[in-house]
Amino acid sequence: MGPSIAILGTGSYAPAKIVSNHDLSRLVDTSDEWITTRTGIRERRIAGQHEPTSELAARAGIAAIVDARLTSADIDLVVLATVTPDMPMPSTACVVQHKLGIPVHAACFDLNAACTGFLYALEVARALLVAGRGRHALVIGAEKFSGFLDWQDRATCVLFGDAAGAVVLGRAVDSRHGLLGCNLGAEGGATDLLCIPGGGSLHPPSAHSVEHRQHYIKMKGREVFKSAVRVMAGAAREILEQHRLTADQITCVIPHQANRRIIETLSKDLEIPLERFVINLDRYGNTSAASIPLALDEARRAGRIHAGDISLLLAFGAGLTYGSALIRW
Ligand code: COA
Repeated sequence: MGPSIAILGTGSYAPAKIVSNHDLSRLVDTSDEWITTRTGIRERRIAGQHEPTSELAARAGIAAIVDARLTSADIDLVVLATVTPDMPMPSTACVVQHKLGIPVHAACFDLNAACTGFLYALEVARALLVAGRGRHALVIGAEKFSGFLDWQDRATCVLFGDAAGAVVLGRAVDSRHGLLGCNLGAEGGATDLLCIPGGGSLHPPSAHSVEHRQHYIKMKGREVFKSAVRVMAGAAREILEQHRLTADQITCVIPHQANRRIIETLSKDLEIPLERFVINLDRYGNTSAASIPLALDEARRAGRIHAGDISLLLAFGAGLTYGSALIRW
């Protein structure tokens, strides 16, 4: 057991441009009614041409640093969860470091665990701080998903959006508070359920990969839905049991924002009332690694989280990755 690590500040950023379901119905054969009933999504934000993932990440990052009453000079580590980096190389974390003027002694790297990325990043950063690798970590989830969506595929393009969320981690003032625990896992046999097949070493960019639209996200929606409920409910039960907590002690659940029906099913399964779940996917869609830190920041700013509260964070994503985390505020 090392020192207790806590969230000292949160921040988020979403691009200004709002695209409604109605707007999308002019692009593909869909309707506001279909999207709303099947997913709960009403609109999403789309980043501008000169707004890459690093820009969204930097804006969320500085907001979290200010919220923690720190400056960029205090940051010793940047872990950025994303599947939509500015470039395959170098890491987007390095770009963000430079944009924010974070000192050169800081270790900076990207982490890919898809929509579970923020929970993976949180746990990696926590462990590095406990190991003595600096005092403060900036943990960011940021995605510009719009660049990887097939705007001819109605089954996927209506689901995702662009955004970023961030937290600053540091020593907890009171050792009973902070990140209580985190469980992470992966079912690596399910890589074909959700993927961007082209552009990597398996299918390098080529005229063929472009022609076959391999650089866009591909998804088996129904199977992902079923897996999502199964792995998140399992992860929730496991972590509650480990910490000898009951569902009624959880004041706030912050789940990955993919589909309102997934969250409703989870609520029933776990017997935690839906009112205790933070839901903002109606306004942002699925923003992958940004979804949990964005919802967390909004919940804090809306006064939904109080000192002493216990929050449960739950995620799943491509891989198939999943994770859960408990925070006492
Ligand atoms: N507008 C209108 N119709 C659409 C549509 C759209 N945007 N997308 C798909 N459809 C059609 C399908 O073509 C299909 O038509 P068919 O019956 O004539 O073949 C019909 O709607 C039903 O499709 P299906 O995929 O079975 O619908 P569904 O009820 O499973 O809902 C999802 C689809 C994607 C909303 C749902 O499966 C889901 O949310 N899955 C999880 C996705 C997810 O969470 N991904 C992110 C993981 S991090």
